[in-house]
Amino acid sequence: MRTIVLRKEDIYKGYLILVNRKYQYHEQHQELSHAGTWNGEEILLESGANRELNKLMEEIGGWDQIVPVSAWRSLEEQQEIWNQSLAESGQAFTEQYVAVPGHSEHQTGLAIDLGLKQVEIDFIRPYFPYEGICQTFRQRAVKYGLIQRYQEEKQSVTQIGHEPWHFRYVGTPHAEIMAQKGFALEEYITFLKDYCYGRNPFIFQTYQISFVKAAGGVTEIAVDDAQPYRISGNNCDGFIVTQVIGKTEAYQSPDYSGDNRVTGVNGKEDGDES
Ligand code: DAL
Ligand code: ZN
Repeated sequence: MRTIVLRKEDIYKGYLILVNRKYQYHEQHQELSHAGTWNGEEILLESGANRELNKLMEEIGGWDQIVPVSAWRSLEEQQEIWNQSLAESGQAFTEQYVAVPGHSEHQTGLAIDLGLKQVEIDFIRPYFPYEGICQTFRQRAVKYGLIQRYQEEKQSVTQIGHEPWHFRYVGTPHAEIMAQKGFALEEYITFLKDYCYGRNPFIFQTYQISFVKAAGGVTEIAVDDAQPYRISGNNCDGFIVTQVIGKTEAYQSPDYSGDNRVTGVNGKEDGDES
């Protein structure tokens, strides 16, 4: 066992941070990597997420027909997109399809908009239909830790319109659990709060998932470092611990590598430790 000591600001880091109209993104160091080029712009995505995206694309031959339209955005870029959309398309449209600057998942580097390769591609609303290669992508995405974030039936929960093109990396096995239970990220984060670390974890396949509320000062979490684990902030009030159980082979990247997370495999964390 080892004790991981987390600071209050660590709740703003990790693959499970909830960024929406209520919870803004707190700028963090991000390890970004090249996901492609579109319209002369380099598209950057968080490295762990990018690795998984590319594995999926390789499996389905996706890059032959799919274009990365937008991924990481700075606050300034989100503001420009917001301003331009407001001027061109009005407030109702903009609030539906552009997150308020400071509150966009694109700022985390964990979200990517994908479009079917066409002569004309709409930057705000790329065409990514529920058929063909796009649907194949959608169906396999959860296995790689990616979710379609803004579902038609969850608009009242996410407060964003239906976006068939916007995918968010949350990591495995979370994407699969969310898909099975029909949860938006908001609902999943709330759901996990009933599963207290060390007492009643949620068990899914070979994973134990549980919640630790952030303490006023530092939060100490004793983890079994004989098994791979990950700790992510939820960007609201605490931490989600994902621990592998009963599996002997190493639980490989991306879940326990990359900088956009609180802790890594077998105790290699960037929080303090004791
Ligand atoms: N289109 C999504 C909501 C964003 O701007 O982050
Ligand atoms: Zn998007």
